[in-house]
Amino acid sequence: MEDGSSRDTSVPDDAEQPSEDAEVNIAQEIFSQQEDPIFANKSLLEISHVPSFDRIVGRDNEIRKLSEELRGAVQGYSPENVIVYGKTGTGKSLVSKYVSSQAVANAHDDVRIGYEYLDCSTDNTETQAASTLARAFNDPEETGLDIPERGLSTAAYYKRLWQVLEQRYDVVLIILDEADLMADDNLLMKLSRAGESGNTDCRIGVIAISNKIEWAEDLNERVKSSLQPKELSFHPYDAQQLEEILQHRRDAFKPDVLDDGVIPLCAAYAASDFGDARKAIDVLRHAGNVAYERDADTVTEQHVKDARTKAEKDRFKELVEGIPQQAKASLLALAILSLNSEQEEFPTQLVYRQYQNICDNIGQDVRSERRFRDILKELAFLGIVDNRKENLGRSGGITLLNRLVEEPEIVYEIIRDDARFETLTNHLSES
Ligand SMILES: Nc1ncnc2c1ncn2[C@@H]1O[C@H](COP(=O)(O)OP(=O)(O)OP(=O)(O)O)[C@@H](O)[C@H]1O
Ligand SMILES: [Mg+2]
Repeated sequence: MEDGSSRDTSVPDDAEQPSEDAEVNIAQEIFSQQEDPIFANKSLLEISHVPSFDRIVGRDNEIRKLSEELRGAVQGYSPENVIVYGKTGTGKSLVSKYVSSQAVANAHDDVRIGYEYLDCSTDNTETQAASTLARAFNDPEETGLDIPERGLSTAAYYKRLWQVLEQRYDVVLIILDEADLMADDNLLMKLSRAGESGNTDCRIGVIAISNKIEWAEDLNERVKSSLQPKELSFHPYDAQQLEEILQHRRDAFKPDVLDDGVIPLCAAYAASDFGDARKAIDVLRHAGNVAYERDADTVTEQHVKDARTKAEKDRFKELVEGIPQQAKASLLALAILSLNSEQEEFPTQLVYRQYQNICDNIGQDVRSERRFRDILKELAFLGIVDNRKENLGRSGGITLLNRLVEEPEIVYEIIRDDARFETLTNHLSES
């Protein structure tokens, strides 16, 4: 909650000590609030929500191409294997699920067809994946097979999978989402060679999705030659398409709650963030949350701006929290210099001296100046620090000037939250 005027969730004044009852009351009040003044159906803004066809915007070509590659499946023949790639939030998972479900819905009467979706970021080992697929395609009543989630060998899970497919299907489509996160290529290899190896007569079509463009190129040659994949790339959305995607979900909100400029602004932000539909939807939902928390009757452009600032801060915090300790010390050096001076940019040597002070102060190893330069470069690569070269003339030579991208107060706070920097003397400045 960003200002004092939160929706009515206060504990009565006479409750001096926060008792258990008071806590129950707060929770009760929040949960029992029947009317949500902002949202009518928030689930439309959940990322897992699969919109119906009439809400899928700007992907007609991709839907057409993928449907063509999978066309054989509805007739009971082998579909093509497809690798779908493209940047994050460009609709790859959505379109793959949608087209697969349509293939199942439109299959010829005599074709037994099924599809399953495997999230390789969760099931990232061959055994887990084989287990999940075998169980997902199985129907114990039909096959008489009870497949345990854990405990069998990889080979045993594959054996069950082939048995299930053989008994239940003529064709299956298997979506391997985030396929680059699989520990190895073995699953792809086994699926693509299942027929050839005589494991099952069921035809298998694999749709492997990745947001790493290089992934398909780096695949093992043997996998490539048995998979023979068709490739389908998804391009980022432009602001207009993002706006349309959001317009199709405006019924997530109560009528007349969204100010006119809200959706275009969310779309413009997301377009500048690499055309990511997920971000567009996230910003819209967060803006709605901000409006709710502030007791507002409508969602305004200011709510969108504030929601975005908050999201950016959260993302930045996560990024900085994840960097190694030496990099944190380097970053802290730059933050302290910035806090103690009018200047924004500092030559590497000066930052290095400050960094040495910090390391001495907290008892951490000091890296060489050369290694320190590499650390600054890595921080620049992550977008945390900006550095540029400047020619200081004959006396100074060429020097690298470093600047924090975010405000120094924020950087300072985040790093001081790390327990390893707790003992640092306050307001340490260049000596
Ligand atoms: N064309 C579209 N029309 C409507 N909603 C869309 C469209 N494209 C994406 N979305 C929505 O945006 C979100 C992200 O889309 P999706 O998960 O398909 O992206 P992705 O390309 O798989 O991204 P990632 O690589 O990060 O997994 C989802 O909530 C999805 O419903
Ligand atoms: Mg995806």
